[in-house]
Amino acid sequence: MCGFFTIVFNKENRNMGSILKNAGERLSYRGYDSTGIAVFNENEKFIIRKDKGSVEKVDKKLKFSQYGGYKGIIQLRWATYGKPSKINAQPHKDCTGRYVSAHNGNIINVHSLFEKLKKAGHRIKSENDGEVVVHIIEDYLNKGKSLNDAVKLSYKDIKGDYAFCFADKKSRKMIAVKKGSSLFAGKGNGFIVVSSDLYAVLDHTNKIIPLKDSEMIEFDSDDYTIRNIISMESIKRSPENNFLNPCIMYKRPYDSFMEKEISEVPTKIDLLREYYVSSNHLNKLKRTLSKGKLIITGSGTSYNASLLGTYFLNRISGIDVAVHLPSDINDRLKYVRDKSSNLLVVSQSGETKDVKNAIDSFRNYSKGKVIGMINNLASTMGMTSDYILPTISDMEISVPATKTFINQVVLFYILSLFLKGESKSNIDKKIKLLIKSLKKAKKDTDEQLSSLANKLIKRDFMHILGYSLTYPCAKEGALKMKEVNYMNIEAMHSSEFKHGPLALIKRKYPIILITTAKDKHYTLSHINEIQTRNGIIISISQKDKDIEKNSDINITINEKDENCFAIISVYLMQILSLKIAYKKGINPDQPRNISKTITVD
Ligand code: F6R
Repeated sequence: MCGFFTIVFNKENRNMGSILKNAGERLSYRGYDSTGIAVFNENEKFIIRKDKGSVEKVDKKLKFSQYGGYKGIIQLRWATYGKPSKINAQPHKDCTGRYVSAHNGNIINVHSLFEKLKKAGHRIKSENDGEVVVHIIEDYLNKGKSLNDAVKLSYKDIKGDYAFCFADKKSRKMIAVKKGSSLFAGKGNGFIVVSSDLYAVLDHTNKIIPLKDSEMIEFDSDDYTIRNIISMESIKRSPENNFLNPCIMYKRPYDSFMEKEISEVPTKIDLLREYYVSSNHLNKLKRTLSKGKLIITGSGTSYNASLLGTYFLNRISGIDVAVHLPSDINDRLKYVRDKSSNLLVVSQSGETKDVKNAIDSFRNYSKGKVIGMINNLASTMGMTSDYILPTISDMEISVPATKTFINQVVLFYILSLFLKGESKSNIDKKIKLLIKSLKKAKKDTDEQLSSLANKLIKRDFMHILGYSLTYPCAKEGALKMKEVNYMNIEAMHSSEFKHGPLALIKRKYPIILITTAKDKHYTLSHINEIQTRNGIIISISQKDKDIEKNSDINITINEKDENCFAIISVYLMQILSLKIAYKKGINPDQPRNISKTITVD
């Protein structure tokens, strides 16, 4: 989703353009359809430079580093309202060229606001919802309102979830507002910084000023005032030291962050093991879970992790859990009489709008607890869940989730073993074995995966099948291939394939089938249904002679535990997708049209 960063210094800084560019690189996982900066100087002048494209591309063309100033804004767009274009890029200015604003999020009544503003004589240049902010505040200021009142009234008018910043060239002060989208402030020596991304703030200072929804912060380089935007009462809040590591974001020696993050998987699992095995974190949760049914939700990759998690919880600890898509939660809970269920939300970013909506619906209908399985603990979900299960993967930069998916499912595995009553030392042993086996599988299959990548590179469509436990693995494998290979690849339960899709099979139609050895009783029959119609079977399986013999290509994972096999199979699908992306010349870190954090409906 979009992101912005803004900083005010106590004097002109000739590096302003470079500072903004660096912050933009930090934000670039949030959007890369367009990039723009606004830089203000002491002569009450400002420049806006913006265009379609990533920070790198736009900076190359517009050379941000040439602009010095005492306050500046950078905004990165992930297009929702209005195509990626120079005119739709942010920041936007008002009609007179005095005010500038940038936003992140979604303004859902954009069309009616545009109409109203146009009728009032405003010259709206773009189709982008962000342009509403600057004109609507300008409108109230023109009517003689104070800046605070203008912001308050605009906040009431603007519907949706968003955060924005607003600057006046005639004042050293800036204003930022939070409503349902992330926003962080930080105070340094001679500057204050505000951004939709915590790490972008941490790059400059670890003195973080937490902001809540319905709050605005008015700030210059040294002072700030936080207010409740409805009552306008000021709120005393001092900066807190934050010790999160903003980890220097270099991908070297890897060619992409996706590759780097895949390579970090064994270490991140180990950190997860250490954290959960050495703490009593899960005990508290056990008491909550014994009180009501567990509903799990998450979007995209996190949904697939949730689905695999339900298999683990069910098979290992005998718990009956439900998994729903976040957008279904409202309908699912509305009519249910039992109000005691608990909701486990799975989210890497902790900011996904669909999941936040699910939490709101859940809180309306249930008295149970919200448990957040979250990677970014400084996120809205991280800060508002009743219990947190951190996935301890460190920041993930590449848009496709890899290491965070693996830690989500490993955490489900640990949780299931714990709820079954396994001793901590047994869980510890099992996870250590999993790490060993995962590393070995990566090494053993590397050549095979490269040669498979060569074979699949020209394919535009195929299917990937899984049976029961491996069905979520097929779904996640297909999601990765779509995302970074632009392949039309559909995942299905292998039993369902014969109920229609089998009609697609013709000579050399490729099917990837992920199967445990135990399930071969069924999957061999599914293999035969496809092979007799001249399709090609590429199986990813536990060691098994029959599966090997019956597949055109077989990739064996030497792992006896089915649950661990399922986890490793997705790890190999991540590697395969990356290999195909490289061969196709696709930058896997920034797949077209998608963004790391989806903060819109
Ligand atoms: C795909 C991917 C997305 C996210 C989804 C939810 O690789 O990353 O499908 O999983 O947008 O995001 P989070 O987990 O941040 O809620």
